[in-house]
Amino acid sequence: MRRIAVIGGSAPVPLSGSAQGKSETPSTPYGDPSAPIHCFRSGAMDVLSLSRHGPGHRYTPHQINYRANVWALRELGAEGVIATFTVGGISAALTPGTLVLPDQVIDYTWGRAHTFDLPGERHVEFSDPFDEGLRRWLAAGAGHSGLEVVLGGTYGATQGPRLETAAEIDRLDGEGCSVVGMTAMPEAALARELDLPYVALCLVVNPAAGRGAIDREDWAQVGERGMRQVAALIERCLELGPGG
Ligand code: HPA
Repeated sequence: MRRIAVIGGSAPVPLSGSAQGKSETPSTPYGDPSAPIHCFRSGAMDVLSLSRHGPGHRYTPHQINYRANVWALRELGAEGVIATFTVGGISAALTPGTLVLPDQVIDYTWGRAHTFDLPGERHVEFSDPFDEGLRRWLAAGAGHSGLEVVLGGTYGATQGPRLETAAEIDRLDGEGCSVVGMTAMPEAALARELDLPYVALCLVVNPAAGRGAIDREDWAQVGERGMRQVAALIERCLELGPGG
């Protein structure tokens, strides 16, 4: 794997190589991606960096054109996707600032364009939604950067854009979710439809509803600080290369 996509979420990932390179906005059969895709070299790899929500957070989670985003990254030659997310922590141990590499997802979203409807096989295998090789690579990068990452957990993908009620979080907890966010689906499933290895790297920025006070200022600060760590971790991985 030589060319990797990094999708940034509500808190951008400040990758240092991104000052170089050029931007591309491929049009796709599904419309335009959220933003121009920035292409640059970092370590041993080419990086394609895309802001999921677009400039100035233009698109809320249900407005994002996930199909155009994933298609455009593949069109530009991405061989894998590191998708970053800010999330709420449901499990008590997952406090703000914690990094999580979940291994499962439950989709509570609705009404989103969730398939490419490609001809042929319609029932893609999705037992394990996140690529194990990419998870191991990121875990190794974390180790090399002196960062702790919680390995495993279930991402509950909610519709938003509002936050959840405490009862909804209790329900997600009961159903096995450890973190909650609004954007991993249908993104992960669309990547699978295109056979693109995909991994979710989550930063907990708040306790989920009913699990503690949600302070939007803390949230933003934790997001900024945490995404600097995420950038360092990803840069370490890019130096190591996917075999590292
Ligand atoms: N719920 C849903 N999405 C989120 C949250 C949350 O508490 N925090 C960050 N993204």
